[in-house]
This record gives sequence, structure tokens and C-alpha cells, in this order.
Amino acid sequence: MTGTPVAVRIDGVDKVFRTRKGGEVHALSDVSLDVAAGEFVSLIGPSGCGKSTLMRLVADLDPLTSGEITVFGKSVEQARKDQDYGIAFQQAGLLPWRSVRANIELPLEIHGVDARDRRDRSDELLALIGLEDFADHHPDQLSGGMKQRVAIARAMAERPRLLLMDEPFGALDEMTREHMQNELVALCQETGAAVIFVTHSIPEAVFLSDRVVVMSPRPGRITDIVPLDFKARDEDLREDTAFYEGVTAVRTLLHGSEQGGPRGVENR
Ligand SMILES: Nc1ncnc2c1ncn2[C@@H]1O[C@H](COP(=O)(O)OP(=O)(O)O)[C@@H](O)[C@H]1O
Ligand SMILES: [Mg+2]
Repeated sequence: MTGTPVAVRIDGVDKVFRTRKGGEVHALSDVSLDVAAGEFVSLIGPSGCGKSTLMRLVADLDPLTSGEITVFGKSVEQARKDQDYGIAFQQAGLLPWRSVRANIELPLEIHGVDARDRRDRSDELLALIGLEDFADHHPDQLSGGMKQRVAIARAMAERPRLLLMDEPFGALDEMTREHMQNELVALCQETGAAVIFVTHSIPEAVFLSDRVVVMSPRPGRITDIVPLDFKARDEDLREDTAFYEGVTAVRTLLHGSEQGGPRGVENR
């Protein structure tokens, strides 16, 4: 490979689901996207446009119909086996019988990291997500926002070079959500991880992303890509003109693609 190393390469991917009644759902059509190492890319688009499907293909949870996906130059199967990425989806998916700390340490435990190193890492992550005092609590003792933070800490435990996040903040109230966005920015800066992030929130996508990928449904396609080049992703950005311009650009494209009508500034 030459130039910037690629975290995820999605090349001409189609996904057709066969339904039990013998019908077909063409979920993705000719989707191509490269995500560079360390890059933050959001997927946004109307419900049913194939965002989750695309994430599941990258994570090797479903087979693709045609095209190719590689993760750090490997097949998706190899990348899954090598656990090259952390996953955080909308449901926190914590194990209810394990403590917060034990949930965060799970991937480390699976990979045979010894108890002392596991504890050091979970201490770090508990501090990062602000849940030091909850290490010995169990998931059912936590709020939704706290559970999501634990799930994200677990996804980060092995300092993956790639995070796959499908509406991870969808269930959170606005304040917790902005707090989690700030934490995610800090985590990415700390680890240099690339992120593919699915969200319904235009401001969230714009705040977090180097590029926002706009998709349209039936079949799901990429219609536009909006690059965002902010100096810093901090609280000031949320009040910045450049931020509002980004939001407007994405909203215009999204509504254009929803109606199948004219599109805005950055056709691909
Ligand atoms: N396992 C499946 N079998 C059949 N159709 C599916 C399956 N999973 C998703 N679909 C269909 O594929 C399309 C894209 O779904 P999805 O990726 O979940 O959309 P999004 O996450 O953007 O809301 C939808 O029309 C959905 O009904
Ligand atoms: Mg989805």
C-alpha cells in the first residue's frame, strides 16, 4: 500500500437480502468508500438506507453479495478474527452478571491479558468515562448513558485502530450525548483510532466527523460526501459559523436525496 494507510476499503459493494417469501431487498448498491487511518467518517441517511447493513458487512456479521471490503488490507473475516476493531452499537450489550469493570476488561480477558494489566487498563478507562466510583456496580444499576459509556470503554479497551459505532448515543438525552461526543473526540485523539459512525443527528455527524457520508435508500447508495475541516472539535465549535454551515450543507443534501430531487453543492 502507498500513501495514507487505509483502515477500511469498501469497493463496489452490493448487498441483496433474500426474504423468506422468495423476494429480494436490494439494501446496498455500488457502495465505495475508503476510510483512512485515524479518520472519523459518519454515515447519515433516512431509515432503511442500509447504514447498519454496511456496518455489519464491515464487521463480517453478514456476507456481502458483490464487491469487496478490506480492513487494514485484510479480508473482513481475518480482521474479525484478529479483533482489529472495537464495536459499539445502539444497545450497550453489556453482560448483566459482570461488574462494570469486568465488562470493560472482557476483550482483554479473552485475549489472555494478565489480571494486573487488565486492571491498569480498566482503571484508565473508568477515569476517562468518569465512572471510577461505579467499577463494582452491575449494568442494571446504571442509567442508559452510563451503560453506553461502559460499552464504549469496552470497545476502546484494546486501543483498536478502528471503531465501528452504530447509533451508539441514540438512546441518550441531549446533555449526556454532547458529553459523550466530547469524550469520543478525546478518545480518538488519544488513540488515533479511525471511526465509522452511524447517526441520525446532523449536528452530531458534523461535530464529530472529518467527512459525512450522505446515503439515500432503495437501494442504499452514497449520494454525497461532505468534508469538514475544523481546527478543533471543542465546545466553541458548537457555536461556530463554520459548524452551522456544515450542518446546513448536510441537511440540504439529505433532504435532496430523500426527495430524490436536486442535490446540493458536493455531488460525488
Ligand atoms: N436480515 C435482513 N433481511 C431482509 N432485509 C433486511 C435485513 N436487514 C436489513 N434489511 C433491509 O435492508 C434495508 C436496510 O436496512 P438497514 O441497514 O437496517 O438500514 P438503516 O440502518 O440505514 O436504517 C432495509 O430495507 C431493511 O428492511
Ligand atoms: Mg440502522
